[in-house]
Amino acid sequence: MKIIVRTYAGVEELLKKEIESLTKKPVLVERRAVSLDGNTEDLYKINLWSRLAIDVLVHLYAFRVTDEDDLYNKVTNFKWEEHLLDDETFSFSSIVNSNNFRHSQYVALKAKDALVDRFKKRTGKRPNVERKNPDKHFIIRISEKNGSILWNSTGDPLFKRGYRTHTVEAPVNEVLAAAILDLIEWDCKTPLIDPMCGSGTFLAEALIKSCNYAPGLNRKQFAFEKTSDFKKELWDNLIEEAKSLINECKAPIFGYDTDNEAIHFSTLNLENIFPNNSVKLESRDFFELEKPIEDGLLIMNPPYDVRLKNINIEEFYENIGSRLKHFWENYDAWVFSGNFSALKKLGLKPNKKIILFNGPLECKLIHLPIYRGSKKRASS
Ligand SMILES: C[S@@+](CC[C@H](N)C(=O)[O-])C[C@H]1O[C@@H](n2cnc3c(N)ncnc32)[C@H](O)[C@@H]1O
Repeated sequence: MKIIVRTYAGVEELLKKEIESLTKKPVLVERRAVSLDGNTEDLYKINLWSRLAIDVLVHLYAFRVTDEDDLYNKVTNFKWEEHLLDDETFSFSSIVNSNNFRHSQYVALKAKDALVDRFKKRTGKRPNVERKNPDKHFIIRISEKNGSILWNSTGDPLFKRGYRTHTVEAPVNEVLAAAILDLIEWDCKTPLIDPMCGSGTFLAEALIKSCNYAPGLNRKQFAFEKTSDFKKELWDNLIEEAKSLINECKAPIFGYDTDNEAIHFSTLNLENIFPNNSVKLESRDFFELEKPIEDGLLIMNPPYDVRLKNINIEEFYENIGSRLKHFWENYDAWVFSGNFSALKKLGLKPNKKIILFNGPLECKLIHLPIYRGSKKRASS
């Protein structure tokens, strides 16, 4: 089967490597996705193990399409009864990039009507649409005149790992945090510090990465578990194998935040992964904090906007830059933020800038190596 694994813009190449290593199969890079020819085991494995995927889709049907009537006919002709049982609920969403079809919601609606009409004709009964938690979520994709129907094998997106039961304002998406740890080339050995950790997403993803913890282990359910041909024995074996592959976290990981509640939330979230984990958490103000270990990697996601607290955001970033420069020598510092004008106020020359999206918000990840003299880390 053709499997399509979706991710965020800028993460495609990392995802390709991850999926190749999981499946040992050739993987193609697409726009915000990668694809491969795989089997059921690959499908389950990617859902269970991928840190960088949002969801895993299975290609069901390809067709040429020119207009709305054509769309209705093509979708009606598809043998839906091979993919949806009479009593199963379903939903439809769409991804449209075509001059012939301008309203993507309308495309999803038309596809839904075509499916319903085929069922009504065959059984006399209407299958039930369920938006929130359907048995089957189908996606109709139209790119110019090429249409396809896909089935979402994941269900709720994979960033809903199950560990983040408590969040602060503006948390970073879990998949994005995992991708950032790869982009900054954290090797799971170098000490990692997040001095504005909020709900602890970077710390949790660091724990997952360094302990070889399959991120899907904490999820309650995947959509493929609800299918009539679900291979339970295969899935149980993969789960057992994943549990046996968890190892001890070797890197020192530290998280700080001024907000006591954030530290409490981080503690709870990390405990959801490992009850007695080694991450050191403390309520501290970054502007008074000194580095807990001589050199390491610092990842920071400062607030984008602190107007409510009566602080000037640009001054706040200026102070971050100054603190980094004077107190975090020998550190590779990375700052992730959606406030571009404030980032410029850090006053340090970045040697790398990467554009990423935290949901709809365009953000930058910038690298600020804080070295004295000629000392350089190999990765910079
Ligand atoms: C955008 S949030 C971080 C979100 C986090 N990455 C997550 O995924 O939950 C910014 C955090 O910086 C913290 N913060 C603000 N000023 C701080 C300071 N001076 N020292 C330490 N933490 C600070 C806030 O309390 C907030 O939790």
